[in-house]
Amino acid sequence: MENGKPLVLVVDDDPHLCEILAHILALEGYASAAAHTGAEALRALRQSPADLVLLDLKLPDTEGLELLPALRGGGPSVPVIMISGEGTIQTAVKAVGMGAYDFLEKPLDPDRVLLTIRNALERRRLEDEKASLLRTVAAQADMIGDSEAMRRVHEWILKAARTGSKVLIEGENGTGKELVARAIHRTGPKADKPFVAVNCAAIPETLIESELFGYRKGAFTGAVSDRPGKFQAAEGGTLFLDEIGDMSPVTQAKVLRAIEAEAVEPVGAPAPLRTDVRLIAATNKDLRAEMAEGRFREDLYFRLNVLAIRIPALRERREDIPLLVGHFIRHFCREHGVGLKRIEPSAMERLSTLAWPGNVRELRNFTEKMVVLIDRDEIRDADLVPLLGLPGRADRPAASRPLTLHEAKERFEREFIREQLEAAGWNVTRAAEALGLPRTYLHRKIKELGLRGEG
Ligand SMILES: Nc1ncnc2c1ncn2[C@@H]1O[C@H](COP(=O)(O)OP(=O)(O)OP(=O)(O)O)[C@@H](O)[C@H]1O
Ligand SMILES: [Mg+2]
Repeated sequence: MENGKPLVLVVDDDPHLCEILAHILALEGYASAAAHTGAEALRALRQSPADLVLLDLKLPDTEGLELLPALRGGGPSVPVIMISGEGTIQTAVKAVGMGAYDFLEKPLDPDRVLLTIRNALERRRLEDEKASLLRTVAAQADMIGDSEAMRRVHEWILKAARTGSKVLIEGENGTGKELVARAIHRTGPKADKPFVAVNCAAIPETLIESELFGYRKGAFTGAVSDRPGKFQAAEGGTLFLDEIGDMSPVTQAKVLRAIEAEAVEPVGAPAPLRTDVRLIAATNKDLRAEMAEGRFREDLYFRLNVLAIRIPALRERREDIPLLVGHFIRHFCREHGVGLKRIEPSAMERLSTLAWPGNVRELRNFTEKMVVLIDRDEIRDADLVPLLGLPGRADRPAASRPLTLHEAKERFEREFIREQLEAAGWNVTRAAEALGLPRTYLHRKIKELGLRGEG
């Protein structure tokens, strides 16, 4: 751009032609610059990046074709329109194959020149718009986390997106399994196709078959019309089978058959339907243990587990906690329409050392609670104490709602265990003895109650 006008660089050894073009372009509201050799063209582009290049195929010092990659490499997809003289049409066609936008034949027709320029700039604008949209989408759903562990997860996401093979995502509750599945889909070549998620644990055994594979009208009472299943809904795209460890043996067998045959059989359908879906499965269970117990089919496991991504628990990547907290504070302050809150370093420190058994989801929920319930601009460590159900609660005004028995028990339990741990100097073995509990059980309790680090 030059003074708000699109800048066209004209590269032709004929000064007369350059002058005429400059004149026509000026009348149409374009800025222009001229170069008479390849070297001049490259220099001109370095000085002020053009929005479009008109490039003669024959130059004194080089061929236009030779120059093309350098010109296009210069900026983000600068459109190049070739100008071809007598006997160079074939080369011009080749140039288009190499990425030139179009070619114009000499003698140039001014109307055609202007029309081609307008179209090329419009396409460039649309491409830029699309690219910026994609960047926004990616940024919005981006996974926060800069730990070594998360960087590895990012690499796996890219790898999975490129290969299109089946993926098995393993991780505890709330570690971001669905987020990873969506990221794989979005990063892959079929991002514009559907992403369909099925929670296998949430669908009753009796319904899962028709849910996954669909049914035909009249297949059973109540089937008043054809209904496509999730496999069909995901056609061409990704089917995300969540909580795969909760599938019954019967469903496992049917899913396995669908994978092997690349076809599904809607209930009551006369023949199977071919499907083309990419499967991503997720589980918070240890499937190897489930297989050992005979609860999960080995053959299905090996089918699904082509690429395995294990998302580490939050306590295994505590260095991500400050990043996540910052991200969630910004998110919830915006969502709840409150000014951006700061957080005291000691408060951040405390959040970073808690156990977070519910992983990122729990941290996210807790951050929302902080944003909503803490009125001041800065979240202080002391403000966290009552929210976490740690000592100090007694000085706080009573909660507006009476506690449920479960909450009261949990609160008592937390307090009681914390006192014993304090008394034992946070030595879990000694505290377990004092409480009359197995040490492993106490470890689990500490994590569940978010008492302090790993004890
Ligand atoms: N790295 C991350 N960056 C930002 N947000 C995250 C990240 N990981 C998880 N979250 C958020 O935490 C919540 C839980 O994530 P998600 O639903 O993907 O987890 P999950 O492993 O599928 O959990 P569950 O096992 O409970 O189904 C979501 O709100 C998600 O946006
Ligand atoms: Mg999930």
